[in-house]
Amino acid sequence: MKIKENISLKPFNTFGIEVLTSKFVEISKVEELQEVLMGNEDPILILGGGSNVLFTENYKGLAIKNNFKGIQVVEENQNEIVLKVGGGEVWHEFVLYCIANDYAGVENLSLIPGNVGASPMQNIGAYGVEVKDLIVEVEAFDLRDNSIRVFSNTECDFGYRSSIFKTSEKGNYFITAVTFKLNKQAIVNTSYGAIEAELERLKISNPTIKDVSNAVINIRSSKLPDPKEIGNSGSFFKNPIVTEEEKNKILTTYPDAPNYPQPNGTSKMAAGWLIEKCSWKGKRIDNYGVHEKQALVLVNYGGAKGSDIFNLSEEIIQSVNDTFGIVLEREVNIL
Ligand code: FAD
Ligand code: EPU
Repeated sequence: MKIKENISLKPFNTFGIEVLTSKFVEISKVEELQEVLMGNEDPILILGGGSNVLFTENYKGLAIKNNFKGIQVVEENQNEIVLKVGGGEVWHEFVLYCIANDYAGVENLSLIPGNVGASPMQNIGAYGVEVKDLIVEVEAFDLRDNSIRVFSNTECDFGYRSSIFKTSEKGNYFITAVTFKLNKQAIVNTSYGAIEAELERLKISNPTIKDVSNAVINIRSSKLPDPKEIGNSGSFFKNPIVTEEEKNKILTTYPDAPNYPQPNGTSKMAAGWLIEKCSWKGKRIDNYGVHEKQALVLVNYGGAKGSDIFNLSEEIIQSVNDTFGIVLEREVNIL
């Protein structure tokens, strides 16, 4: 464990933005974290896979890369297994481990980039499943007093792309491990239309969890850019939640606007659709722009500055607001 100085963060963010951090360290156990924090007065940035951050300037502080590894069986019976997983494990590798062992639950979340430790941060979700459905508890290191705290699922206050770690407790905790409950009797969730359609295309009528995972991988690969080829952080914005009145106003003019009713009478609108309607889809400005297959994804074609991408996101927010009266909120963490 060595604290390095003036390190490029380009290999550590999937947007591929070239910025420097004044200090950088990789840690894999609590003792190392305690050692690094002893006497530290610099601001701290915790980094997992760097797949949900946009750097707009050099980072003036200590970037700590989470490398906590290991998968441990906590409890097991005929129907369920409880696993405690190190925060530095790569999310998709954990998904593949579950599939190989026939532990059901995470297959719809296949191919989401990043680490296990960041999964509770914004309650990652895709294709009808959110990670909160599987989390038992989250173990975190309190950066203020160096104590370890375990948060129950309820205490994490999970919501759509949200948890206390992204809101009220932002910056206070380093997530060291996440405990998941998985099902040993596979009950697959294929309710999301695109999965059903893909399974039909593949002529699979009784899907296994591996089939569902493969279907999700195919769908994702067909519309989301691979960060190894084109820099991006997935959806740049959240899908907005609107009132019944706001939704009806949009539907009067655009009856085909995709909308998803929520349990409390509100509706989620598709931000990608709203952005596309404002003619941003596929728009390229120099070396950055809006992805041609998914308007919710902003991209760096190589060498773009984070501030340019941030300014583009401002323009998009303004134009969606002017056209639909909806203020989009960024999903990506801006630094
Ligand atoms: P990072 O980007 O490293 O960090 C994200 C934030 O969490 C930062 O604020 C960081 O400081 C904080 N953080 C990271 N680790 C810890 C920790 N251990 N303790 C405390 N704070 C921490 N997301 C979805 O929900 N659904 C999707 O379908 C999806 N698809 C994507 C597709 C692509 C192509 C890409 C590039 C991204 C996608 N994302 C998606 C977003 C991203 O993959 C997730 O948000 C992921 O959980 C981020 O993990 P990370 O380890 O890369 O986090
Ligand atoms: N749409 C358009 N134009 C576009 C993009 C989408 O019209 O350019 C329409 C689609 O036709 C569809 C609707 O919008 O009717 C929804 O699109 P899609 O199924 O692609 O999903 P999304 O709402 O754009 C969300 C998540 C993704 C997640 C997928 C699948 C958010 C912010 N994004 O995208 O998560 O993978 O659903 O569940 O909730 C991420 O968070 O980074 C991410 C990629």
